[in-house]
Amino acid sequence: MTKRLIGFSVFILLVAHTSFGQRKTITQKVDSVLRLMTLEEKVGQLNQYSGRDLTGPASTKKTNMLDEISKGLVGSVLNVKGAKETRDVQNEAMQSRLKIPLLFSLDVIHGYKTVFPVPLAEAASWDMEAIEASAHIAAKEAAASGIHWTFAPMVDIARDPRWGRVMEGAGEDPYLGSLIARARVKGFQGTKLGRTDAVMACAKHFAAYGGAIAGRDYNAVDLSDQQLWETYLPPFKAAVDAGAATFMNSFNTLNGIPATGNAYLQRDILKGKWKYTGFIVSDWGSIGEMIPHGYAKDDADAAQKAIIAGSDMDMESRAYKSSLAKLVKETKVSIALVDDAVKRILYKKFELGLFDDPYKFSDVAREQQALNDPQHKLIARGVAQKSIVLLKNEASILPLQKTLRSIAVIGPLAASKRDLEGGWIVKSDTTQVVSLLEGIKSKVSNQTVVNYIRGCDANSSSTEGFADAINAANNSDVVVLAIGETWDMSGEAKSRTDLTIPGEQVALFTALKATGKPVVVVIMAGRPLIFPIVSDSAAAILYAWFAGTEGGTAIANVLFGDYNPSGKLPITFPRSVGQIPIYYSSYNTGRPVTNEKNVVYKSAYIDAPNTPRYSFGFGLSYTTFLYSEIKASANKMAANDKVIISFTLTNTGKYAGEEVVQLYLHDLVASVVRPVKELKGFKKILLQPGESIKVSFEINKEILSFYNSRLQWAAEPGDFDIMIGAASNDIRLKTKIELVGTKK
Ligand code: BGC
Repeated sequence: MTKRLIGFSVFILLVAHTSFGQRKTITQKVDSVLRLMTLEEKVGQLNQYSGRDLTGPASTKKTNMLDEISKGLVGSVLNVKGAKETRDVQNEAMQSRLKIPLLFSLDVIHGYKTVFPVPLAEAASWDMEAIEASAHIAAKEAAASGIHWTFAPMVDIARDPRWGRVMEGAGEDPYLGSLIARARVKGFQGTKLGRTDAVMACAKHFAAYGGAIAGRDYNAVDLSDQQLWETYLPPFKAAVDAGAATFMNSFNTLNGIPATGNAYLQRDILKGKWKYTGFIVSDWGSIGEMIPHGYAKDDADAAQKAIIAGSDMDMESRAYKSSLAKLVKETKVSIALVDDAVKRILYKKFELGLFDDPYKFSDVAREQQALNDPQHKLIARGVAQKSIVLLKNEASILPLQKTLRSIAVIGPLAASKRDLEGGWIVKSDTTQVVSLLEGIKSKVSNQTVVNYIRGCDANSSSTEGFADAINAANNSDVVVLAIGETWDMSGEAKSRTDLTIPGEQVALFTALKATGKPVVVVIMAGRPLIFPIVSDSAAAILYAWFAGTEGGTAIANVLFGDYNPSGKLPITFPRSVGQIPIYYSSYNTGRPVTNEKNVVYKSAYIDAPNTPRYSFGFGLSYTTFLYSEIKASANKMAANDKVIISFTLTNTGKYAGEEVVQLYLHDLVASVVRPVKELKGFKKILLQPGESIKVSFEINKEILSFYNSRLQWAAEPGDFDIMIGAASNDIRLKTKIELVGTKK
């Protein structure tokens, strides 16, 4: 391009940037920028690099990457964070011909500086406001540090706890998962993209990544259309409806086609049927991974297949960069496809306001303020409390008295700070984490003696520390034992075939139990674990997951009754690995298990019950709730009617507490068999002791609909069981309704 032309281009671009330009719609602005771009610059916008080297010491890699950025050949950088760091790198992009700003992205999964409970834990709160608030704080902190875009929420439904990434999602259920997807997208994105307290969300991993065969990460997924639509897609649709700015595709194949090269998923469903206007980023290297999958023969083939299938941005494969321009020149890829991808990305850059001010998010003063806001910790503590699930409380041993004479705090996780944070931490200050031991110490009276002993490592065969632990137990009134997984045992590439509590931790429990002292077990983990001995003989069990920066205080609040636990499991806890996959919304077989004795030919195991150890939706409270007086406003309804199901909920115990009342239904006969139970509604309700409230749910056609054999969303006339309960296996009230009409 000649100097004059460049001058002219910059003038046009300035027009696009200035207030005069603001009168134009974003689409017009995008078009005016696109017109100026060379093919190489367009491909550059589709190119995303990890920028870890950019903030490190001088290296060839660093020099080369900065050079590419300053030539306008990079659209986005991940893993650069900090107001100053992002400003410096953005400055390089401002040296480029068209000065198109970079997008800074990062895996802000459950907090930026303030670490919130891992997403599966938050899902156990069943509290959409809390989940949205958590995402919003994370966004606020990240956005002050120059981040424009988080790779979250992960909305993959996961029914296999062997898969380490169950930790990052909302569990097994599409209904709960959809509401949480929505809450997280809204939390991250705030009221409007472009505000400096919000970042772009990214719904991932599209699609069905959670269905990895045998729970092995990155493994193939083989799913019926029915399951895809009914179970795995709804949270993604909810994310689109909530306005998710971006999507990430996934590493897995789906029925033989890698998701990254899958036009059915990305073009037909997402950009077609769902009219999604944002852009899709590949997962890390997933374009190039189509080669080992056996779907593409080389980078060029992979790039061609990915862009045709609708993958807009290439994270770290460098396949677009190496091949896309050539593919266009050879007319193997139409320029229209490239333009569409570029436009989607530029659109977001305009929406974020980066063309007006590329440094808008990189504000050192705001960063200081946002990363040191004491409110954030308080909110994190609140969410952590709500995420803890009380699994057992024999003889109401909990809550403990703060005036106990003595308490033994034992276990490899009792004093740990790092483990409370879980995986995917990005900017946390681990020294600020409140350990369980610290939480307990600051809760008990001055007279209470706290005997802390580690006892054993989380994952070793040594029992050397047992003697001291037993001694501490013998010298105390009660034992609190903190065991479970370490932070690095759940998460990406952390699949396990053995879900028991590792090392000698259960043996430590058994040894402590033998002292005769009551043992309260706090389990920390990123997934459902299997712990039959603890289940059978602990005095009480709190499932605390990885509870974040304020975890120790939150758990202590629950142990000592400053917070009455209200969490409910968002995922089934199996009795054994052999039961997996196990989830509540299963189908009835032709030979369901009944209570009859000696029936051999039924759908059962000969060595274990079909039921899980702990069911979806389960979680105890320090108080008790009575469900009574169910009423249906009608027992028949036409498709355009509504029926109101109401009942009374009473707090019959001694403590104020929150109950998550759950509505399940079963469509008894349908053209495609329906699960024995499907969650269709819930409410989290706070009641004072003795207080009652009338609760109601509306049953309408939408709630009764499902994907029929032609994958149409429709309700079929017939009978439905309506169930209200405190858990999927604890149904307290039942009624029936009939949807009248003629069957098609
Ligand atoms: C993960 C993504 C993540 C990306 C970037 C990948 O390995 O699957 O979830 O967003 O890395 O860090």
